[in-house]
Amino acid sequence: MSGPAAVRPQPFEGGDLATFDALWSALAPIGRDPHTGGYRRIGFSAAVRACEAWFVAEASQRDLVVERDGNGNLLAWWRPEPERVDHGVITGSHLDSVPDGGAYDGALGVASALAAVDVLRQRGVRPARPLGIAVFAEEEGSRFGVACLGSKLMTGAIDPARAVVLHDAEGARLADVVDDGYGQAFGAGRQLGPSLELLRQPIAYVELHIEQGRGLADLGAPIGLASTIWAHGRWRFRFAGEGNHAGTTRMADRRDPMLTYAMTALAANKRARLAEAEAGGDGARATFGRVEVEPNAANAVPTAVTGCLDARAPTTDAVQRLVDDIHRQARDRAVRDGTTLTVTAESVTPAVDFDPGLRHRLAARLAARFGDVPVLATQAGHDAGILATAGVPTAMIFVRNPTGVSHSPAEHAEPDDCRAGVLALADALEELLVR
Ligand code: GLV
Ligand code: MN
Ligand code: MN
Repeated sequence: MSGPAAVRPQPFEGGDLATFDALWSALAPIGRDPHTGGYRRIGFSAAVRACEAWFVAEASQRDLVVERDGNGNLLAWWRPEPERVDHGVITGSHLDSVPDGGAYDGALGVASALAAVDVLRQRGVRPARPLGIAVFAEEEGSRFGVACLGSKLMTGAIDPARAVVLHDAEGARLADVVDDGYGQAFGAGRQLGPSLELLRQPIAYVELHIEQGRGLADLGAPIGLASTIWAHGRWRFRFAGEGNHAGTTRMADRRDPMLTYAMTALAANKRARLAEAEAGGDGARATFGRVEVEPNAANAVPTAVTGCLDARAPTTDAVQRLVDDIHRQARDRAVRDGTTLTVTAESVTPAVDFDPGLRHRLAARLAARFGDVPVLATQAGHDAGILATAGVPTAMIFVRNPTGVSHSPAEHAEPDDCRAGVLALADALEELLVR
């Protein structure tokens, strides 16, 4: 992280932000659970289709040309006159959420991109190259288990033969739901698989995202730029034992996979806390956030317990060491419990260093409005990381999150910080579009 930014008044010159407010309020009710206030925009669901319909309508109102690939990714183009199709600039994010997620993770980047186009047009900017606004599919991986599934398929980071057989908790296959709700529109019916040509060799991808920690809040800065993304992934730990009666089975006679799972969850937490303490704050993260119990009956020793481990660390080697250590402890405990263990890597994303040249260029441009813009590493995954790994020069703009809470209904950004984000994105895009 660079040094503290000067606290400045919000500088709102150079753009009427009313259209951002209108975009944001139109999107806000879609997929919101009335009881929790959280969002249930699960990949390829009716709620996501409604968000996409909002995006397509807003893009069309702006005369942007909407395209779609066979993986469910959308792209809306603002093309210069005379028309040029290649070497443009891409911005955007995702519209899906985790179950009971916040309003901002992903959606803020998409709404800000549309609002940034309005700001650039109000300024009379005439782009020398095309601007594409991307909406990547199933970024959270909440439905099919693979994070950034749309951008991974687009860039070839996941084999379509593996993706085609992915299925959700109800048994629906990815290949069968990608086109749901589209009819023949926007290229529905295309195959899953690499589609990087849709981006037409961009000179840059710039993704705006709410910060998912307290870095900017602590520095008193409304926006920041990303330096790196930690390596991260998901591993499925399946513990199998012997289902039996909770009353009549003696404690000594049990082969209870819940015990092996429970000890593994504690061991994962301890191992990551140790790494964090050794690194003075930022060593590793390990979380079991989803558990399936079979048969899931109150009065039965379970037959099997499957826990999904989310593990993260600054480097790809460090995350592998973390997972190997947790795996070893789980195996040892399984021997003691008389259970068996199978571990499957579901989704592994290496560490990412964002393009330093692009970051410095944007920092210099943003300094005129915001002063010294903080540069932060993030532990959260993003489509930006997938595009960077595929060789697209990539940058991220973060918007301050006053509490740092994310993947929760309590996720929040102040309206003035969202408006500052729109202007930051508009400035960054203007820098890249006109030169
Ligand atoms: C996505 O938000 C992730 O980091 O899991
Ligand atoms: Mn996100
Ligand atoms: Mn997220």
